[in-house]
Amino acid sequence: MSDAEIERVIADFAAAARRAVAAGFDGVELHAGHGYLLHELLSPLTNTRGGPWGGRAGGERALLAIVAEVRAELGEDRPLLVRLSTSDVAPGGTTVEQTAAFAVRLRSAGVDLVDCSAGGLEPGVEYAPARGYQVPGAAAVRAAGVPSGAVGLITDPAHAAALVADGSADVVLLGRAMLRNPHWARHAAHALGRTDALDVPIPYLRAWHPGALEPLELM
Ligand SMILES: Cc1cc2nc3c(=O)[nH]c(=O)nc-3n(C[C@H](O)[C@H](O)[C@H](O)COP(=O)(O)O)c2cc1C
Repeated sequence: MSDAEIERVIADFAAAARRAVAAGFDGVELHAGHGYLLHELLSPLTNTRGGPWGGRAGGERALLAIVAEVRAELGEDRPLLVRLSTSDVAPGGTTVEQTAAFAVRLRSAGVDLVDCSAGGLEPGVEYAPARGYQVPGAAAVRAAGVPSGAVGLITDPAHAAALVADGSADVVLLGRAMLRNPHWARHAAHALGRTDALDVPIPYLRAWHPGALEPLELM
């Protein structure tokens, strides 16, 4: 991409945010991870250009410019999230420490929360998916003073609650567990004794009152 094309992309993100507001959305999440364009700009492995948008510094400048434009379109009340790959999980790539420092600048530019994923830039990157495998990125961002969201094989309500309670993240975000069980959050509320957090449609009450919930093997 030429410098002019990158500048057009920045304006295109602003236009997309304007359309999102016009369409009635409550907030926006910018995807700057998983090898998508903004991640390719952020990583020194893929952003090898010179000039104002070159290298990691140029990629950070581009995302900060997009955040400023999108925040202006959203106003102060609509949340703005950014999804980052906190680490490229590759030699010479972006590290969790770099991401935590950058998250502070994103926060100052108007980002409310960083959704902390990892990897996805380079093919052939191996990292073993295990329970909570991407949580360290969220914990580093939060330790830098920026609200963070944790993802990555968080499937158990007690584990999810512990990650928020121990300060690893401000929120927990689920992918595959919700695909397997779209009612995961309702089951979790019961498992954690938080039935007060359930907002059940009245016609569903017969299915969701505590006596109707045994057994809970769907978890
Ligand atoms: C079928 C599938 C499709 C996904 N598609 C996307 C996607 O389009 N954009 C994205 O940011 N993440 C995508 N992800 C990654 C998830 O958002 C999430 O970060 C990842 O699965 C780890 O969380 P989990 O263990 O709770 O699933 C996808 C994951 C799965 C399993």
